[in-house]
Amino acid sequence: MEKLFTPYKLGDITLSNRVVMAPMTRSRADKGDTADELTARYYQQRASAGLIVSEGSQISVQGQGYAFTPGIYNEAQVRGWALTTKAVHDKNGKIFIQLWHVGRVSHTSLQNKGEAPVSSVAVRAENATCFGINDEGKYGPVAVSMPRALSKEEIRGVVQDYVTAAKNAIRAGFDGVEIHAANGYLAEQFINGGLNTREDEYGGAEIANRLRFVLEVTDAVAEAIGAGKTGIRLAPFGRLFDMHEFEGEAETWLTLAAELSTRSLAFVHLSDQQSLGAQAIPQGFTDSFRKAYSGTLIIAGSFEKDRAEAWLQADRADLIAFGRPFISNPDLVERMANNWPLTEPDRATFYGGNEKGYTDYPFYDEKA
Ligand SMILES: Cc1cc2nc3c(=O)[nH]c(=O)nc-3n(C[C@H](O)[C@H](O)[C@H](O)COP(=O)(O)O)c2cc1C
Repeated sequence: MEKLFTPYKLGDITLSNRVVMAPMTRSRADKGDTADELTARYYQQRASAGLIVSEGSQISVQGQGYAFTPGIYNEAQVRGWALTTKAVHDKNGKIFIQLWHVGRVSHTSLQNKGEAPVSSVAVRAENATCFGINDEGKYGPVAVSMPRALSKEEIRGVVQDYVTAAKNAIRAGFDGVEIHAANGYLAEQFINGGLNTREDEYGGAEIANRLRFVLEVTDAVAEAIGAGKTGIRLAPFGRLFDMHEFEGEAETWLTLAAELSTRSLAFVHLSDQQSLGAQAIPQGFTDSFRKAYSGTLIIAGSFEKDRAEAWLQADRADLIAFGRPFISNPDLVERMANNWPLTEPDRATFYGGNEKGYTDYPFYDEKA
């Protein structure tokens, strides 16, 4: 049998296969930004994945950059997500929640009292849009707002928001959390040396300073819920949301890999942005990262069955994450295992709306 369909022990839990459903924002949260019965149905349909990583879920109002994404910072949201975790566990699936703070990729219309979004530094992301309330008072794509730099005291508050969200996630029944430190959002706004020119111990030329925020978040979350329930997602050489090349870029990511190695985390999950329209992780770099990081490694980005199997056989990763194929194939694992054809996803229904393009993709019918 292919390695892709063999079980994998991930900390305290055993995954029934090595297929991970990648985190995907679908922007269908109920009022109050709560996951609801429809969310539960969507994830339950996909529960044959070895592991599901949920869509990004904001850890605070401040951490939100898109309307209609679910949060995990209040009691109604905990109750809402509990529907999903039960639905997935009823089908013997496993699910982590992705904890999200967008930092500067936000708009004043989404923030408390219309305040400015926050980041490592007060630099606006050029040519970047998020999803808020536009000049006509309607929901829609809007240019991100000018952020302000977090003070050191506020950084402690944000770390605390991650801790509260992680504890909430465990109360909601999640098997663990994935800290979203990828794709140009807050953690990456601290890591990126081109952007983060802070003059205190949270930024500047020193790699250790630019890694301080993400490691403080990781350590605080691991301390609160257990390292074995704590995963993290990174996008080495990430270029989304106005992130640029910077000096010592490979060294920065490899230093982070070595730091994370000492922490017995559930996993590190690498996001290759090529299929998201940005550049690929440079040739060979994921292998350097794998050498530098001793724990479970997940890779995402443009995988299909054969390439996934080849990566596992070559021991280049432990688990393979699939994004878009899971949108349109709830039974992706069975389809790949049986070499059944895949349904193509409809981009028009990726974000927002209702059941259409969400819970109405059919399971494969062999007889049909
Ligand atoms: C509709 C959509 C929403 C996404 N939302 C998220 C998200 O919330 N968090 C995240 O880390 N990545 C997000 N991604 C990126 C995916 O997790 C994945 O890395 C990417 O789609 C590449 O995998 P694929 O080529 O298999 O689709 C999203 C991708 C898509 C297509």
